[in-house]
Amino acid sequence: MPTRLSSIQYQNPSQPLSIDSNNKPLLIVPVFQDKTNDPKNPTFQTSAELTYAEKQVGFPIAKTFKLEEFTGGYGSSLYVSNSAMPVSVLFVGFGDQQKKNQLPVYRIHKAYSKALSTVKRKELTSLIAIISTDGTNKLQDVLSLQLICAVGDHFYETREVKEPSEHKANLTLITNEAAGKSATAEFGLATVKARALAMDLVNMPANIKTTASLVDAANSLKDLGLTVTIQNDVEWIKSNMPCFYEVGRGSVITDPPRWIRVHYKPAGSIKQKIALVGKSVIFDTGGYQVKPDPYMNTMKADMTGGATVLSVIQAVATLKIPNVEVTAYLAATPNKIDSDAMLPDSIVNTSSGKKVEIRHTDAEGRLTLIDAVNQAEKDSPDLIFTIATLTGSAARAVGPRTALMSNNNEWRDKFAKIAEQYGDSCQKLDILEEDFEDIKSKLDGADINNTGHEKYRGAQTAASFILSGLADENKPLIHLDVAGGDMTTDEKATAIAVRGLLGFIHEQ
Ligand code: BES
Ligand code: ZN
Ligand code: ZN
Repeated sequence: MPTRLSSIQYQNPSQPLSIDSNNKPLLIVPVFQDKTNDPKNPTFQTSAELTYAEKQVGFPIAKTFKLEEFTGGYGSSLYVSNSAMPVSVLFVGFGDQQKKNQLPVYRIHKAYSKALSTVKRKELTSLIAIISTDGTNKLQDVLSLQLICAVGDHFYETREVKEPSEHKANLTLITNEAAGKSATAEFGLATVKARALAMDLVNMPANIKTTASLVDAANSLKDLGLTVTIQNDVEWIKSNMPCFYEVGRGSVITDPPRWIRVHYKPAGSIKQKIALVGKSVIFDTGGYQVKPDPYMNTMKADMTGGATVLSVIQAVATLKIPNVEVTAYLAATPNKIDSDAMLPDSIVNTSSGKKVEIRHTDAEGRLTLIDAVNQAEKDSPDLIFTIATLTGSAARAVGPRTALMSNNNEWRDKFAKIAEQYGDSCQKLDILEEDFEDIKSKLDGADINNTGHEKYRGAQTAASFILSGLADENKPLIHLDVAGGDMTTDEKATAIAVRGLLGFIHEQ
């Protein structure tokens, strides 16, 4: 279900809070620690935000910290509510005041989320968050967005929830006037909605998720003015995207492959064309080289890349982002088996004409993407992104974050910086010439193989395989392998990379 965060307003700290006594608001106050006197015994930092909160509440709330031994340590929080107070208060600890400016943005989101999770949803219908009361803090937009996302996440419910909650949240952000921009609120709401769409698609149970689920999600974007083209003709896919077809051939009868294209064209001049290619493997059984137990579990999430690109383009269209033309591409298919499914030791053609030796039927994502990037390139983008739950190797290398690779380090570094500012944590991996050498096929009649030989560079050899599909090898391509972070440890979708990509497009 869409998130229940329904509206966001800004308020200047010079104005008093309007408090509805029938609906007691929750005041969210950031707290930092002071470690200057004694690093081993930090105390809470008396900040302008805290002073402002005490003035509004008319109650020396800080004293309660001592009672509870709360000092504002990172990840800790304190919920204070009593009948004498006109508001309840949630203090959110962000740790050492002196390290305030080095705090990674995703850790801000994490701290807010953790703190909110300690409060019952029904207490959260009216939220007032003190972002900052001084005019100098450039981080205000960054902080606001992370808080908005944390609140949005808190209210997110899957479509499968038995008793959807009735609560709706209304959020007021206290920032100084200079930073109080309704644009941030609008961007925040669009981000929350986009993340909810991505999570809904990924969380959908395996037995009801098909290529049609992605087709339907794409078609519903037409309402936003996006152009949606669905290639349903399997014969077209077979002749034009033969390597992608190879993955789909095991389910042609039950759930045939679909090639989905969603296009956003802004009004006015265009400075940049961006292609977003999302791995859209509906369910990855591994194929004939079947995944052993328990590795097949969570493979309903193997279409996270596709869900990501649909949700990003939804937000781009909602926000009517100017100057950037964006196209999302999804080569959607399950990786399943029937008597016609792909066999290891096959040699198949690709959109680019390179011949591929299939060594492993479970390395299917790259088979779909090598053709997808080649097709995307035909629309002449300036920059191509691939977003994929591609390799266990990336998950082992970087854990629950994005493994970031590219054939163009300038673009890669630019993306990493922006993504970080928007709350997505990326770690860079270099692709070497050796990675291209490693995927050369030893068979007559094949150019490349889909596994490589180097045991510990699986993420990079997979990336080099995808790059081999480009007609112009210098076309900038940024590859996000999100296999480690697409789901939480309790198997819930995370909407990884949505904020980073949306932020990047927004900043162009
Ligand atoms: N979808 C998987 C990758 C994956 C693994 C995603 C774990 C999320 C969590 C992919 O298709 C795959 O199976 N990759 C293999 C490739 C190997 C056979 C060369 C892998 O990484 O083990
Ligand atoms: Zn696989
Ligand atoms: Zn896969």
